[in-house]
Amino acid sequence: MTKTLIVTGGAGFIGANFLHLLRRERPDWKLVNLDALTYAGNLENLTELEGHPGYRFVHGDITRPEDIESAFTAARELGGGVSLVHFAAESHVDRSIRSGLPFVQTNVVGTQLLLDAARAHGVERFVHVSTDEVYGSLGESGYFTEETPLAPNSPYSASKAASDMLVRAAVHTHGFPALTTRCSNNYGPYQFPEKLIPLMISKAQDGEPLPVYGDGKNVRDWLYVVDHCEAILAVLERGRVGEVYNIGGHNEYENLAIVRRVLSELGKSEDLIRFVKDRPGHDRRYAIDASKIGRELGWKPRHRFEEALPLTIEWYRTHASWLQRVRNGAYREYLTRQYGG
Ligand code: NAD
Ligand code: DAU
Repeated sequence: MTKTLIVTGGAGFIGANFLHLLRRERPDWKLVNLDALTYAGNLENLTELEGHPGYRFVHGDITRPEDIESAFTAARELGGGVSLVHFAAESHVDRSIRSGLPFVQTNVVGTQLLLDAARAHGVERFVHVSTDEVYGSLGESGYFTEETPLAPNSPYSASKAASDMLVRAAVHTHGFPALTTRCSNNYGPYQFPEKLIPLMISKAQDGEPLPVYGDGKNVRDWLYVVDHCEAILAVLERGRVGEVYNIGGHNEYENLAIVRRVLSELGKSEDLIRFVKDRPGHDRRYAIDASKIGRELGWKPRHRFEEALPLTIEWYRTHASWLQRVRNGAYREYLTRQYGG
């Protein structure tokens, strides 16, 4: 099995958790992290990896072929056959509603450039980290399977669906060794506080109003980020090339139930809840059928929501300075030091 891995977007939420998992579980692997450090990238997520001889950070953008080349150069210097796990993306639905173009640039153009470079360099495996949002929205019942037709509803999910199709085409046309994962909503350490759970924790801690879109009855299927990372590792090591694997934990909750739980864990009043204007095109319900990855790769989630949500809240409580530095912009100091702006 390959010992050198390029990870794109490793300074973001899931990418950082994945790099920490690999350090623990695959300590002999060499790791290259290619990340543009957009607003969502934070090197303070990775301080424990800094200076490690088997780890390289490449500050680069997947929409720039020369930056992708730098990552492959770093991988070659570390030696061994190279595989790649692709997390880098614009990931927030609300931002895509305000402006779709950055999503097309990174998620679509960036993915194609990465596929071209990875093919030219003969990577052994390429895991494309996608999302359940490509399937669109469910009614009251049913689950997304890998056969559910793609029907994305936001510029974000449309750009991810486009990237999935480019990966599929690379497999079909070039025999490229790619695999695709589609996971439901993640929560856990290092998530940027624009997403529901860390946003609500952060606001509740500060006694600020908690904005709930629409009637609060939209349903998401929540998975602890470490479980997602373990599933990606299983797909990387044992998945069948060309296949899509859904990932989810059968943890469906209405948004309002999540917000109430956060408030109750923190001992705060539900008077902080504010119902606000709905997200345009707001998908009603997501729910994942993850039986294929269970059957083929033996993966199942290890964390129960009832335990992992309090763990997550505790992580944000004990990492108050991480949260504060994200909220006041101090986490961008690295860029100021390196580039003076
Ligand atoms: P995130 O927004 O926290 O992190 C994205 C990372 O990608 C950041 O470090 C950012 O700097 C980097 N990046 C963005 N544009 C880049 C570019 N052009 N070049 C290089 N790096 C760039 O995202 P996340 O929540 O960690 O999601 C990671 C991946 O997982 C995404 O592809 C997302 O679609 C997918 N996903 C996320 C969830 C979820 O619940 N968060 C669920 C399923 C799938
Ligand atoms: O399903 C996987 C997807 O989950 C990932 O592909 C995306 O990258 C990730 O951002 C997430 O998308 P969502 O749109 O589901 O996540 P978000 O945290 O933005 O919102 C979760 C739900 O909470 C959604 O129904 C909207 C609602 N919400 C969100 C925010 C930020 C609110 O009610 N109020 C809020 O302030």
